[in-house]
Parts: sequence; structure tokens; C-alpha cells
Amino acid sequence: MRLLVTGGAGFIGANFVHSTVRERPAVSVTVLDALTYAGSRESLRPVENDIRLVEGDVTDEPLVDRLVAESDAVVHFAAETHVDNALADPAVFVRSNVVGTFAILEAVRRHGVRVHHISTDEVYGDLPLDPAVRFTAATPLNPSSPYSATKAAADLLVRAWVRSYGVAATMSNCSNNYGPYQHIEKFIPRQITNILSGRRPKLYGAGANVRDWIHVEDHNSAVWRILENGVSGSTYLIGADGERDNLSVLRLILALMGHDADDFDHVVDRSGHDLRYAIDPSALCAELQWAPKHTDLTAGLSSTIEWYRENDWWWGPLKEQVEAHYAERGQ
Ligand code: NAD
Ligand code: DAU
Repeated sequence: MRLLVTGGAGFIGANFVHSTVRERPAVSVTVLDALTYAGSRESLRPVENDIRLVEGDVTDEPLVDRLVAESDAVVHFAAETHVDNALADPAVFVRSNVVGTFAILEAVRRHGVRVHHISTDEVYGDLPLDPAVRFTAATPLNPSSPYSATKAAADLLVRAWVRSYGVAATMSNCSNNYGPYQHIEKFIPRQITNILSGRRPKLYGAGANVRDWIHVEDHNSAVWRILENGVSGSTYLIGADGERDNLSVLRLILALMGHDADDFDHVVDRSGHDLRYAIDPSALCAELQWAPKHTDLTAGLSSTIEWYRENDWWWGPLKEQVEAHYAERGQ
């Protein structure tokens, strides 16, 4: 199989490429990535001799057309992904996430190539703190932020291209990922690298907001299951029953790194901050016999902390600038 992976130099995409090379040697992988601030050649260094990396933009229609024509399937991870950045500067989110997905859809339509579109649970908006309510594939789209609005727009384009043009497409909406190679602007790696670099962790507001954590390897094993067995036109919700409020996650990180439970700062809250996300993954588990493997958050965080401890060459050069950026926003 010739597989085109957009956004393969980012966090989830790089982990996907690593596991694909490791576990599926018959798959020939081409990565298309614009190497934005969030993408890194270094994240693909361990597999650089096993894949082809094309530096380019998903909105570049001739380039996308050529690469799709050479492929049997596309996994579309490429996107602008950070909510705080979208609040500050939404234009690039519209371009990469909406126009970029449009370019992919038009190319797969022209060449009859199958696509799997990667999306997020944030398209469903947020939930009350009532554990009985979770997102399912029937939950209406109701995005809150400029980021999630662009992802919802992309999801709608995919649905329309399936219905109107018969494009062979599957979609998945996943909860919050964590693991190695995650950009240090994001919550978990930001706090780990704050501690490792002698800074205090930063919690938005009171930390009552709930996220549903899944290890990136579990997200990617579900994507492969959908690629192999998913039904075109279907949307699969990926989650691992990992709900925790932010304060609890931060305190777990502090404990695992030998710090006091109150050794952090409360900072300015995010505008429009979604309260709670929670995925009901039962449809995916039942239909495609998928199950997550990394369901022990303490163990998953411990290995993630170890990865950041051992790989400061990867994140160290970014740290000063990322924190300076946050400081400008009082975060
Ligand atoms: P990331 O920000 O770490 O990586 C995004 C990658 O896309 C980077 O390599 C970047 O260079 C590339 N990219 C951005 N714009 C591009 C463009 N115009 N053309 C080509 N490449 C471009 O993101 P991530 O966390 O790995 O997320 C990957 C996908 O998964 C996204 O679609 C995101 O919406 C989705 N998702 C993420 C999470 C999460 O918790 N991180 C959860 C659910 C879904
Ligand atoms: O739910 C899936 C989504 O998860 C993905 O679609 C997004 O691409 C991904 O970035 C992530 O979005 P969140 O906004 O949930 O993740 P983030 O890591 O930015 O923040 C997680 C929570 O932690 C959120 O409630 C805000 C809070 N937070 C974040 C940072 C960076 C803090 O309290 N302090 C921080 O320093």
C-alpha cells in the first residue's frame, strides 16, 4: 500500500509514521508536511531512511494532486491545532484546516483514492460536568473556538464529498492525546518541561476543566483499525475512558516528578474555555473490535515524563520562545 500521511511531522502524525514503519513494513509512506512551527524533521529522524518526506502545504493544489495520484490511501492529520493560537490569530486555521481539507478532498475525488480524515472531539462543543453525558457520533456539531469551528467545517466538507461525489472517506474524532513528540505548547508537555527547566507549571483558571486523555499509540491503533475495516461515510469516535480534571492531571505530574502538590501558578483562563470533553468509544470498540492498551494514566504519564527527560535536545531549543509567547498573554 502507498500511503500519503499529511501532517506526518507533527505530534500524532509522527507517532503514526513511527508505528506504521515498525509494524507494517509493506506500507510505503510518503509524508506531506509544511513543517510549520509545530512540525519537525527531527520527529521523523528515527524513520528517515524508511519514508519519503515532502515539505509542502496541503493547500498547494498541484502538489497535493500529484502526491494523491501516486497513493492508494491518504491519512489527513495536517492542521493548525492549538486553541490558544487560534484565539490570537484564526486566519491560518481557516486556510490550513478548511482550505487544506478541501484540496485533499478534490484530489482524492479526481483520482478515486480513499481518505481517512482525522478530527477532534472539540467539534461537538463542551459538556456539563455530569459523567452520564458523553459525545457519540449522533452528537450535533457545536464548536466553540475558532480552532474547533475550522475542524467542524472540514468534517462537514468530508461528509458532503462522500454524499455528493461518492468519495471513499472515513472520519474519526478523538479526545486529548498525550505521549512523546507532543509540542511543548500543549498542557501536559508544557508542565513537564516547565518542571524540567526550573519553571513553575501554569494552570488556567481553577483547573476544573475536564479532558478525556488517550495515549497517542491508542489513537493511532484505532486509526489503523478504521483504515483496514472502517465503512466509508462513517464517523468513529476514539477515546479511552480517560477523563480527568486539569488540576488532577497537574498534581499527578507534580507527584511523579517529586514536587509538592501546590508547586504551580494559577494563570489567566482561556477565553471561551470548554468545560468538559468526554468520548463514548463503545461504537468503535464493538464495531471494529478495537480496545486501547495504555489505560493506566499514571504509567502513561511516567513514560511520557521519561521521554521528555531524555530528549531535551528535541524540546529545549523551543522552550524559551514558547514561554515568552505565553507570558505576553499572561499565561
Ligand atoms: P500538531 O500541531 O502537533 O501537528 C500538525 C502538523 O501539521 C505539523 O507537522 C504541521 O507542520 C502540519 N501542518 C500544519 N498546517 C499544514 C499545512 N497547511 N500543510 C501541511 N502541513 C501542515 O498536531 P497534532 O496534535 O499531531 O494533531 C494532528 C491532527 O489530529 C489534527 O488534525 C488535529 O486536529 C487532530 N487531533 C489532535 C488531537 C490532540 O490531542 N492533539 C486530538 C484529536 C484530534
Ligand atoms: O480534545 C482534542 C483536542 O485536544 C485537540 O483537537 C487539540 O488539537 C489539542 O490541542 C487539545 O486541545 P485542548 O485545548 O484540550 O488542549 P491543551 O493542551 O491546549 O489544553 C488542555 C487543557 O489544559 C485545557 O483545559 C486548557 C488547560 N491548560 C492548557 C495549557 C497549555 C492549562 O491549564 N495550562 C496550560 O498551560
